[in-house]
Amino acid sequence: MASLLARVPGAPRALRLARVPGAPRALRLAGLAAAGVGGLLGRRICVQLAGRAQPGPHPVEPGWHDLMPVAELAGSRLVRQSVGDVRLVVIRDGDQVRVLADRCSHRSGPLSEGTLDDGCLRCPWHGSVFRVADGTVAHGPATAPQAAFQTRISDGIIQVRLPGAG
Ligand code: FES
Repeated sequence: MASLLARVPGAPRALRLARVPGAPRALRLAGLAAAGVGGLLGRRICVQLAGRAQPGPHPVEPGWHDLMPVAELAGSRLVRQSVGDVRLVVIRDGDQVRVLADRCSHRSGPLSEGTLDDGCLRCPWHGSVFRVADGTVAHGPATAPQAAFQTRISDGIIQVRLPGAG
């Protein structure tokens, strides 16, 4: 009980008061009561604030999203695009089109400014290398894979579907 109360703002002072040896019993009880009231008030405030929190809308609409005509990817191998606030890098990998998150999983470096070699994309900031087929790490310092997105070509348009967005 005392350790829980010690986390409540203002409670440590009340607890110190309650622990003073030789203090009148009434004073000690008053210290404990003050700590308890402080805890209850803190809990009530937290519950009220939590009740006001509204779940935000998903940042990306469900379904497939157009990125760019596949013909525009012919002249380059890395193109930066975005869906809503999600930055993506579109990659021409032989006759395949891949889409990864543009922000490196290491420290958010721009992979669209990296270099592509033998099916792997190297981050321009610290040199992490990701396999473009699935975003797995081929070489650190990154330890987390890069998000790789489901991609298709429909009527000559590269489309992407983001996980959790339908
Ligand atoms: S930000 Fe990409 S390797 Fe560090």
